[in-house]
Formats: sequence, C-alpha cells, structure tokens
Amino acid sequence: MKIAIIGTGNLGQSIAKGLITNNAITSLYLTKRNPETIQKFEGYQNVTITSDNVLAVQKSDILICAVQPAHFESILKEIQPFLTDNHIIISAVTGFIIPKIESVLGLEKFIIRAMPNTAIAVGKSMTCLCSNEIGKKRIKIAEAIFNRLGHTLIIPEDQMQAATVVCASGIAFWMRMIRATTQAAIQLGFDAKEAQELAMYTSEGAANLLITNGDHPEEEIDRVTTPKGCTIEGLNEMEHKGLSSSLIQGMIASYNKISNIKKEQL
Ligand SMILES: NC(=O)c1ccc[n+]([C@@H]2O[C@H](COP(=O)([O-])OP(=O)(O)OC[C@H]3O[C@@H](n4cnc5c(N)ncnc54)[C@H](OP(=O)(O)O)[C@@H]3O)[C@@H](O)[C@H]2O)c1
Repeated sequence: MKIAIIGTGNLGQSIAKGLITNNAITSLYLTKRNPETIQKFEGYQNVTITSDNVLAVQKSDILICAVQPAHFESILKEIQPFLTDNHIIISAVTGFIIPKIESVLGLEKFIIRAMPNTAIAVGKSMTCLCSNEIGKKRIKIAEAIFNRLGHTLIIPEDQMQAATVVCASGIAFWMRMIRATTQAAIQLGFDAKEAQELAMYTSEGAANLLITNGDHPEEEIDRVTTPKGCTIEGLNEMEHKGLSSSLIQGMIASYNKISNIKKEQL
C-alpha cells in the first residue's frame, strides 16, 4: 500500500511506527512543517520525510491525516486539486466531521474517519471507523490497515465523540488504573519496578481473558471470588469508595467536555 501520513506529530508517528513494524507499506510519505524532528524515520526502507504535502499526495493512494483540527481545513484546500478519484482520505482529526471534509473535497471522494489511540505504536490500538456514503466502498481497506495495528469497529459518525472518550482518552484512564494498582503493590512490599510489572501484566491478562473467552467481566470475577474471601472483601471496599461510579462519572464528564468544545467551534 502506498500511504502518506499528513501531519506526523504524536499520533502520526505512532501510526508510522505501527505501519513500518507490521510491513504494511509499499511506500510511506511522512509530512510535517518541520520534518527535521522526525529524521529518525529516514533510515527505514521506502520511507520519505518531507514538508511537501502535495508531493506526498501525488506519490500515495491512501492519505492518513493526523493534524490538529485548526490546521486541517487549509491542508484540505492545499491538497484538493491534486486528489484523484482513487485516493482514500482517512482523517484521524478529532471532531472534524465528514460533511465539513466533503464541503472542501466534494461528495465524490472516499472519506473515512478513524479514531485510533496511541497504542497503535505497538499494534494494539482500538480504532473506531466511519465513512461517507461513497467511502463505504473503501472502508474495508481502512479496516485492513487498522486491523494490522490492533482492532477495529465500524460505527455511525454520531458515535465518534463517544469513541474518542472511550478509546483515545481511554488510554489515559487505563494508565491511571495501572498506576494506582502499582502504588498499592509498592505499599504491599514490592519494589517499584516489580510492582509495575505485576500491575501491567495482570491488567493485560484480565483483558486477554475477556478477548479470548468472550465472557462478561463478572463471570471472570466469579471465578476468583471465594465466599467470605479476600477478593470480594477488596472489591466491595472499592465499590463502597465509588470505583465503578467514579470511572463512569469521569468518562461522562470527559464526553460532556468534548461535546461543549464542539459546540463552541460551531
Ligand atoms: N494523540 C492521540 O491519542 C490521538 C488519538 C486520536 C486522534 N487524535 C487526533 O489526531 C490529531 C493529531 O494529534 P497529535 O497529538 O498527533 O498532534 P500533534 O502532535 O500536534 O501533531 C500534528 C502535526 O501536524 C503537523 N502539521 C501542522 N500543520 C501542517 C501542515 N500544513 N502540513 C503538514 N503537517 C502539518 C505538525 O507539524 P509541525 O510540528 O512540524 O508543525 C504536527 O507534527 C489531532 O486532531 C488529534 O485530536 C489524537
């Protein structure tokens, strides 16, 4: 696949790492206003670093746009004259809705929105995808790209904001959970490095049990809770202190914030 990443910042570099590691490219153009900060990618075969978005568009079939929302419209206007009927435009730009992209590029372009997270750098991103009407014909290609970099789910566009909270901000929420369990492990006598190892691999194991077995979390909880035992004692104490409630409220607060930001932008 001939891919260009337009705007190779934090997310763009994570996607680039994932694509390179997974041998998912025939050629990869990485663009940035100041490309000298991503020289580290120059050593890879078939990777070109440039500040020239038009060149990247002309040399690629699939464009993954990962710029800040404020920069996106002018970039779309810059590349629009150079787009062919074959180009697939994948936007990871938060909150930039498909009708706004179509208003610059027209209705006849394959437009796909992707909401990945930074775990894309290690091939473990949960990525939500949606498309415009004509883009449905190419969404399988976007699915194939992001499935090489983790797991995908196709959703309606009106769920993209919720997906941003659950999946993109979700990385930060899960980091806090892992940090908290690390802190507890230190208090229980492990040194900091060991404590983090225990917390990381236990959370990985828990997620993998659900992924592999397809169970509801409560079924896995039942398997490790002995009546009157230590697990249920700890779980109930966490719930008395509001564990589930605070997680849910935090995610709703995050969603309300992203919704307000969007209203202010309209
Ligand atoms: N980080 C995440 O977890 C995540 C997840 C999902 C979606 N997103 C969304 O993805 C987008 C990018 O996020 P980010 O965290 O990667 O932001 P970022 O680090 O600021 O990266 C944006 C990049 O765009 C480049 N850029 C700006 N104007 C350009 C132009 N005219 N031509 C080419 N490149 C240009 C910038 O290059 P210079 O530095 O050289 O100016 C910068 O490297 C945002 O819309 C964000 O909401 C992020």
